Amino acid sequence: MPAPLSHRRSSKLATFHFGAAYYPEHWDAATRKDDARNMAKAGFNVVRLAEFAWDRMEPQEGKFDFSFFDKAIATLAKEGVQTLLCTPTAAPPRWLTLKHPEVLRIDVNLVPQQHGSRQHACTTHPLFRAYSQKITRAMAAHFKNNPHVVGWQTDNELHCHFSECHCASCQTEFAAFLQERYHGSIDKLNRAWGNAFWALTYTDFTHIQTPRNQKPTHANPAHQLDYYRFLSFAVTRFQHEQVELLRAANPVWFIFHNGLFGHIDYRGQFTKDLDLLGVDNYPFFDLDPVNRNRSQSFNFDRARAWSGNFIVPELQSGPGGQAPYFHDTPEPGEVRRMAYNAVARGADSVMFFRWRTCRFGAEEYWCGIIDHDNVLRRRYAEVKQLGAELKRLGPEVLGTSVHVDAAVATSDQIVNDSHSTYSFGLPGPTAMAETVHGWFFDNGFATGCVHPADDLTGLKLYILPHWAWFDPAWVKNLGKYVAAGGTLVVGARTATRTMENNITAATIPGVLRKLCGLVVDEYGRQNNPAARPLRITLKDTSVLSNLWYEVLKPDKGTQVLARWSGRHLTGKPAITARKFGKGRVVYVGTYLTKEACAALLPSLVSLSGLAPAWPGTPAGVQVVRRVSQEKTLWFFINMADRDAVIKKMPEGIDLVTNKKTAGACTLAPNSVAVIKTVAGTI
Ligand code: GAL
Ligand code: ZN
Repeated sequence: MPAPLSHRRSSKLATFHFGAAYYPEHWDAATRKDDARNMAKAGFNVVRLAEFAWDRMEPQEGKFDFSFFDKAIATLAKEGVQTLLCTPTAAPPRWLTLKHPEVLRIDVNLVPQQHGSRQHACTTHPLFRAYSQKITRAMAAHFKNNPHVVGWQTDNELHCHFSECHCASCQTEFAAFLQERYHGSIDKLNRAWGNAFWALTYTDFTHIQTPRNQKPTHANPAHQLDYYRFLSFAVTRFQHEQVELLRAANPVWFIFHNGLFGHIDYRGQFTKDLDLLGVDNYPFFDLDPVNRNRSQSFNFDRARAWSGNFIVPELQSGPGGQAPYFHDTPEPGEVRRMAYNAVARGADSVMFFRWRTCRFGAEEYWCGIIDHDNVLRRRYAEVKQLGAELKRLGPEVLGTSVHVDAAVATSDQIVNDSHSTYSFGLPGPTAMAETVHGWFFDNGFATGCVHPADDLTGLKLYILPHWAWFDPAWVKNLGKYVAAGGTLVVGARTATRTMENNITAATIPGVLRKLCGLVVDEYGRQNNPAARPLRITLKDTSVLSNLWYEVLKPDKGTQVLARWSGRHLTGKPAITARKFGKGRVVYVGTYLTKEACAALLPSLVSLSGLAPAWPGTPAGVQVVRRVSQEKTLWFFINMADRDAVIKKMPEGIDLVTNKKTAGACTLAPNSVAVIKTVAGTI
């Protein structure tokens, strides 16, 4: 039985996999031999193959030919490089779409997608599912006894380019999904969706269409949310069918997928079917080099919040480029540092995208470790250095989990999707969590992301920002956390929507009222905050609220921490705290914007007893701990453009240099130290 999904779950991988995505089908035999040798020199123990090679493996319907990959796998194995294979279903071949154009996805404008790029086939379509199973079954049967194939990736980035489909099959499948969800009762569905509004009452499940918002105007949010649930259900089923075949062929293989994208519940069956989740990571999409470090860290933490430690099947290794853009080129040391950041924050394996830059196709400028001309330059040297270091570090991180003191809630598909159905133009849950996380990150705390249903023990401070859709089942876990001494911070608008995505009848914060010890007496969207400024004053700081305000009415025993000033709100409660067991619940009646975090979070830090991850660490150095019963691995990563001096390091062995630490340490830009201490010592 695999351990339940949790941010604390470590993977069961026996090996730390280090390698890259590789496309032998793009290169000739001599180059492939040379590649295997250079990979081995770089310390690779694995490559990922074949996710876009269906045409090569099944050139005509039912005529399978795996000889090319047999040879490619053997060439790699000779140099000690093992293979992860992929089901190639993100790019079905032309014979399939010619014979069955009905599997092509149909977009929101009812335009069928064309053959000519990728992700063009509908993963809900029974015919496409049958083809997916056929190629998966054939691959599994062919490779099951190949000792060099050690694991699998399902498909490639499901829902990356496309998730909402409106093809004929999606209509039938959506109706069947609803029929099941509402136990065959159309009346139940009508009530759940509030179909009395705008004469939406249905008399039969088959009359319901996939919602195409704004055609002609606003769609029903309850209808939309069930459609997003359906998308997750359908893609999970698609993957499940592949996983079953792979597991039946060879139960020793480990299986992952490379996310993270919209409309997939990665805390649900989708990830339970896998050994571990994968997260692809391209930090250079963020054009600001400082924020890039912050957002890279957030994305790993968010990945961990879904299910625990992860594999990075694709990490950026050069500038990314497609026709309309070309990223900055990573400077010397940056690729290695980004990989260390992944390992620090929960990666149990890391692979780069991609071995070499291809000379053709839509991604001919998506640069890999090696450039177009196949000359080994500084990025190769850097990866090689990392490969040598990971020989020591890789095995050490397996079995550990990331230590978190201050966490923000993320990683709930329904919360995210519900927001998208009714946003008021406000930033969504992920964006708000990133803001809060960024403040803790910049201020040197051991920060992370945790779902409210997950294990919250040990967190000093837990922030639940603006989760309008809210499952009442989570209240108990939050109560337990607070009773045991935790500090919970609930942001405005939380728990205002029902499971069906309608509006709760209870006075806000509805199911959280008892825990928070207040009701919200008035709320409002601030569309022009400069014209009618509203300010919150807390101790000696004050901040302008600029997105949303709430006037709080505390219950007896709830303390007012801050009041409003401005307009008719002057003097009214804005932030409250309520003691509960050994802990407390703070309610913040505004949005936790960057300015609000800077003004409000310092007081909450002192209230909760939160301390920095490692005192005396200068700004720009990230400190992360991976821990197990036996040991702690302290990662110090210098993200700044200047040397950083850490006055006193933990005492232990630096696994990067393999030397004992003593006292102070100077880290050059992009440098990393990973100190291993044994339990009980620092
Ligand atoms: C990922 C994808 C890869 C490649 C890469 C660079 O999203 O999985 O196949 O396209 O991005 O764009
Ligand atoms: Zn479809």
